[in-house]
Amino acid sequence: MADVVVVGGCNMDLVVQTPRLPSAGETVLGYGFFTAPGGKGSNQAVAAARLGAQVAFLGRLGADDFGVRLRKMLEAEGVDVQHLVMDTEQPTGVALITVEESGENTIVVASGANARLSQEDVEAAAETIRAARVVLLQLESPIPALLRAAEIAAAAGVRVVFSAGPAREVPEALLRATSVLVANRREVGQMAGLEVQDLAGVERAARRLIERGVGAVVATLGAKGALAIDRTGARSVLGFQVKAVDTVGAGDAFTAGLAVALADRLPFEEAVRMGNACGALAATRPGAQPSMPRRAEVALLLSGG
Ligand code: RIB
Repeated sequence: MADVVVVGGCNMDLVVQTPRLPSAGETVLGYGFFTAPGGKGSNQAVAAARLGAQVAFLGRLGADDFGVRLRKMLEAEGVDVQHLVMDTEQPTGVALITVEESGENTIVVASGANARLSQEDVEAAAETIRAARVVLLQLESPIPALLRAAEIAAAAGVRVVFSAGPAREVPEALLRATSVLVANRREVGQMAGLEVQDLAGVERAARRLIERGVGAVVATLGAKGALAIDRTGARSVLGFQVKAVDTVGAGDAFTAGLAVALADRLPFEEAVRMGNACGALAATRPGAQPSMPRRAEVALLLSGG
């Protein structure tokens, strides 16, 4: 049985490295290209598995070459893929990613099969969800499927960790089923419907979301760490200073670290610190999924090594 069940997207990432990101209508000569497994759901599943959790992944891939490769890669990471559906009508999701030398990036996703994840797919995995400690969701899958997963988990007392990217509108019922919402400062503002200028604004927006039913909010602040807000108050949890070369997937590493720590029943602030360590390590290496850290290096960073 899985400790962590991830319901989400799985893409093949097509990554171009460039001296700088192009502006609209501009062509820039890049210097590197690689493909790597990606997708926020799949990244979080692999990150959680590398941290030692038993992980099951629920999603959809196309029945094509990318799909076959991605499935094998997940299996090689020890992720349970019995609920990963091979879709014969849509291709595997693809993400076109550009990363500039500073580590900044842009991402465009063609969802393909990810967009066909259904409530029925989720129902078929209901027992696995009910037996988990944490269910992890992102916003790269259709809302009805995510909502169903959240409802099944919440009804069974399983914690729902919901990472709110890429930002879009979500139903109130999904917020009410969420134990911990993970979002960057802009997403926290967007979800709360408030303009966010500074940390006080982030806290206000998080409180608004908690009033609407979210259990707690973790606002990620990049290299500065995160702000953890629940009904008892708001705490800053400092980040780790590293040399970032590619931040693609760093947010996924953060969320997986937080989720695994919560599944291990660590206190909230310690779980956020674990998320910070995972996010920092992921930013030091190129690629999303290839950069996900392993338990030993996270433990070393957390212990000050
Ligand atoms: O969070 C990073 C991920 O976003 C990439 O792996 C890409 O596939 C997109 O889903």
